[in-house]
Amino acid sequence: MIEDQASSLRKMNQSRLIKVIAVTGGKGGVGKTNITLNTAIAMAKQGKRVMVLDADLGLANVDVMLGLRVEKNLSHVLSGECTLDEVLVTGPHGIKIAPATSGTQSMTELSPTQHAGLIRAFSELRSQVDVLIVDTAAGISDMVLSFARASQDILVVVCDEPTSLTDAYALIKILNRDYGVFRFKIVANMVRDVREGQELFSKLSKVTGRFLDVALELVATVPFDENIRRAVRKQSAIVDAFPASPAAVAISQLATKAAGWPIPAQPGGHLEFFVEQLVAGKVAGN
Ligand SMILES: Nc1ncnc2c1ncn2[C@@H]1O[C@H](COP(=O)(O)OP(=O)(O)OP(=O)(O)O)[C@@H](O)[C@H]1O
Ligand SMILES: [Mg+2]
Repeated sequence: MIEDQASSLRKMNQSRLIKVIAVTGGKGGVGKTNITLNTAIAMAKQGKRVMVLDADLGLANVDVMLGLRVEKNLSHVLSGECTLDEVLVTGPHGIKIAPATSGTQSMTELSPTQHAGLIRAFSELRSQVDVLIVDTAAGISDMVLSFARASQDILVVVCDEPTSLTDAYALIKILNRDYGVFRFKIVANMVRDVREGQELFSKLSKVTGRFLDVALELVATVPFDENIRRAVRKQSAIVDAFPASPAAVAISQLATKAAGWPIPAQPGGHLEFFVEQLVAGKVAGN
């Protein structure tokens, strides 16, 4: 009997092991939502069960981009009106999308009811998920920082514009200084070719190397590709609509790579840990 309980507990824990990736960038319009969505769909095509958490209430919402009908969002989950499973909408290849909550309230300043609602929402989640990808808003709000620091891997999307580099630097600096984050995965987006992506990465790592103690890794260079816009106009994703186009190939490679990133040993690899981190404050001593 005790043996049974122990094994079902073990099974439950194993089933809740999850990879959590946040997609950030600091600057608006650098391609965060497109990278999120296409990485999610590419991972789903590779057999992963993927959930996208839309933490951005911008105009180009994940659901809007795919032409999906959304009735309830995360704010209804936070208020306890419905469960997380009830707000999930299903996108291409079975990806689950948790639609954005309204407002820009900080995750660290939730009311006690919302706090309990969030914890309950994730602990009651019945949908089986291997990978959770969080699309964050532009800027460096508390909301963005909370989602980033709670995730295991942080993708920082940059493009070759001075403001993109300065905003990415500012984001990395705050996450490092105030939240103790050390590793960042860089995606060079809208570049001409791999070389330009590497140059962009060098520019960013030169400044971080001078002023911060962080480790940056270039994980993808996604070329500028008109098919991204063409796919969006068709309310589709480039990895589906134009899978052989250069950006789709680059993002599919990123998805394959991301699937191999290790999930931390307990407790960091658990969904509960993500939620705990989400609502926790800055690291002590900072
Ligand atoms: N590799 C690319 N090639 C061509 N166009 C791209 C590429 N990546 C993104 N775009 C275009 O750039 C625009 C911004 O993309 P997206 O909405 O994904 O950015 P974002 O960072 O999520 O923006 P926001 O900060 O507003 O949420 C869109 O019009 C999109 O089609
Ligand atoms: Mg976006």
